Amino acid sequence: MAEPTPDAHQPDTLKDGGHAFDGIQEYDNNLPRWWLWLFYATIIWAVWYIPYYHGGGAKVGPARLKDDLAELAAERAKLAAGGALDEAGLRALAADPARVAAGKAIYGQKCVACHGPEGLGGVGPNLRDRHWILGSNMSDIVAVLEKGGRPGKGMASYASEGTEGMRNLAVYIVSLNREGIKANPAKPPASDEKEAPLDW
Ligand code: HEC
Repeated sequence: MAEPTPDAHQPDTLKDGGHAFDGIQEYDNNLPRWWLWLFYATIIWAVWYIPYYHGGGAKVGPARLKDDLAELAAERAKLAAGGALDEAGLRALAADPARVAAGKAIYGQKCVACHGPEGLGGVGPNLRDRHWILGSNMSDIVAVLEKGGRPGKGMASYASEGTEGMRNLAVYIVSLNREGIKANPAKPPASDEKEAPLDW
């Protein structure tokens, strides 16, 4: 085997590692500091990472998924039990036929007397026209059901129906209104009704 020949391209400061093979000379130089600290950092990281992720400390894979799904179910249950819903959240409920049916059942018992069987109004205003006194957003309708109408106007609070009951009623009113705008000659919009059609 040929004796290693010093490499003309290497500076003199490189330390000879005392080993050469096939014409390749091994040097023994200090690693750059930044590299060394990075390397130590990976060791420290591994001391934490391996027991945590492989020793059962952290939930991973199916166990983690199960936990996340349970959390999601709890969140949904909280919402169903009356957690706050913004306008977009309420509008998302409006597509649910089960809610329309549930709202219709309550409406038939508690609202027909004043708002009419088709929502065309009577003692209370027409709920099927383009005009609203207290607002046409679903959150407005839910707020009316929760707190009642303006004092002395005859629209009581229906908070006793519960959050879901009020949401279902609002969904039903919206579905009625969307079946088609119907004016009621016997119940024209009062002067305090503003034009605010459900255009979503
Ligand atoms: C005793 C009669 C009466 C009953 C029963 C009644 N309402 Fe009303 N409702 C009114 C009156 C009157 C108003 C107008 C309130 C105002 O001017 O502040 C009104 C207003 C409303 C409004 C607001 C309309 C708008 O233009 O802003 C909604 C929505 C509504 N009622 C839904 C219902 C629902 C749903 C029920 C059944 C759970 C119901 N009401 C039961 C009389 C009634």
